[in-house]
This record gives sequence, structure tokens and C-alpha cells, in this order.
Amino acid sequence: MTSVLLSLPNDVGLGEALGSILRVQHFRAYTKKFPDGEVYLRVPEEVFNAGKVLIIQSLYPDQNTNLLFLLLAVDLLKSKGVKYVSAFVPYLAYARQDREFLMGEAVSVRTVLRLLNSVGLDALITVDIHKEDSLKFFGKKARNLILFDVLASAVRGQVEEPLVVAPDIGASRRAEATAKSLGCRHVIIRKVRDRVTGEVRHELPEGLPVEGVDVIIADDIISTGGTVANIATYLKSRGARKVFVVASHGLFVGEALSKLRSSGIDKVFVLRTVPPRAIGEGFIEYVDLATPVAGYLANELR
Ligand code: R5P
Repeated sequence: MTSVLLSLPNDVGLGEALGSILRVQHFRAYTKKFPDGEVYLRVPEEVFNAGKVLIIQSLYPDQNTNLLFLLLAVDLLKSKGVKYVSAFVPYLAYARQDREFLMGEAVSVRTVLRLLNSVGLDALITVDIHKEDSLKFFGKKARNLILFDVLASAVRGQVEEPLVVAPDIGASRRAEATAKSLGCRHVIIRKVRDRVTGEVRHELPEGLPVEGVDVIIADDIISTGGTVANIATYLKSRGARKVFVVASHGLFVGEALSKLRSSGIDKVFVLRTVPPRAIGEGFIEYVDLATPVAGYLANELR
């Protein structure tokens, strides 16, 4: 049974890279937008003859169009009789709305994953979904790749006996994995909300000195940058020597970059799960994703 890769428009350069690492034929879907905003997708005919197709498509930016391209591609391939269609989605959008925080809210990640299931997707591979438990909504084979060892290798040469901090309990596994790779300690930072002003501040566990210490903040997503910038400012005010950030996904929305820079962060390391922003000066380092995921995707194509 032949296996091929199919890139959709937001493949973050992974289609070509994985094609050559895995020595698998790689195709690209043709897509366009009609004047009224509707989208169009066409897949080269050779792809329909494959027994297995692995689609590559990240869902940011923009989430809605890229999700629709993915749904159209899966539905088309299954309708054409492709036996096994899987998707590598390095950034799965809508993952943070994973429950009904306020009565009556839509659980977006459930809807997105049910849609992927309903068009016939056989397997889903993603990178560091906000909460792994959400993958149950897909209801079929799903894999969440956690790559903090890769991020740790990128930051290793820049730190001395660092301390890794998690912004909240949800990020503790990420901090733990980073610390394990670096052979250092990790702690969960406390979020304290002022009951009168509603202001949120962050606090280290009591009695933990950070003066002169290199600190690494580990999180899943940097969106507006507010979370890590606040923590970095606090750590610097407590005398931290250098502050680095490792995160799986760097969306850098709006003024995120200037916010991060002015918080005293020395450098940010993110995986290349979404298209890089033109930033220069080495403040953001995009860590290659193709090599670390190739082994897993090779199994998927076997
Ligand atoms: C929150 O639960 C997430 O793990 C991230 O900390 C959050 O989404 C980051 O968002 P922002 O960069 O806008 O603070």
C-alpha cells in the first residue's frame, strides 16, 4: 500500500521537509478563495491512488479557513476511496475552549474534533494540545506529541543551573519535562487574584530565592504574551539573572512581541507549529519540528 503526504496551504513548510526526511512522495493541494469569501480545494489525482494519505495542516492563522480546508480535504479523500487518512495538525485551534466555563458556552474543541471525526479522518496527530484529555472528543486514534525535550535542548547552552517555572498547574507537566531534560528543578508559580481590584499577580512558592538564578518559563501557548510577560517582570523584580521562555506554540498576537521584550525576557524559544513572524534580532527562536516528529509520522505512514 503506497503512502503519500499532502500539504494544505498552512503546512508550515513541513510537507517538503518531511517528504525528504521520510522519502515519501509529497503533494500539494491547490486552494483559492472565491470573491465572496468561499474556499475551493483541489487535490492532484495521483493522491487518490494512495492507500494512506497523511495531510499536513496547521490551524493558525486563520483558524476558520484552515479548518475548513482540512475538512474539505479529508472528506474528498475518503469519498475518493482512500482507505486511511490521517492528519498532522501541529497547532490545533480552538483547544483552549475545552469546557463550558460559563453556562451556555460552546465547547469549541469538542465541535472541531467531532467535525474531523464525522468527515472520516482516521487518525489525528497534534503537538501539545492545551489539555490532552480533549482528544477523547475525536473518538478515534489520536496522538499528542510533547516536545519539551527538544525545546530544552535549544535553551540548554544559554543557562546555568536553571529553575523551570510553570505559569499554572496546567503547565506543570511541561515544566517537569523541560526540567527533567535539563536535570534541574521545577516549580509551579501561584496565581493570586486581588479580591478587591481583581488584579492578578504571580508568586513563587514561599522561601524560594531566585536572585542571580537563570529561570525558564515553560508554557503551551504564547498568545497575547500577557501570561509570560507578567511572570518575567515578577521574576526580574525578584532578582532573576536571565529569564527564558520555552513554549510549544508562538502565536504572538497584536502587541505580544513588544510586551515580551519590555518584560525583561532574554529570549523565547517556540516550536515552528505556526508560520513564523518576521521578528529578527534573535529574540524569538523557532525550533525545527520536522526532525523530531519524523519518527512518529513514519510509523503512521507504515
Ligand atoms: C492558559 O491556560 C494557557 O496555557 C496560556 O498560558 C495562555 O493561553 C497564554 O495566553 P496569553 O499569551 O494571551 O497570556
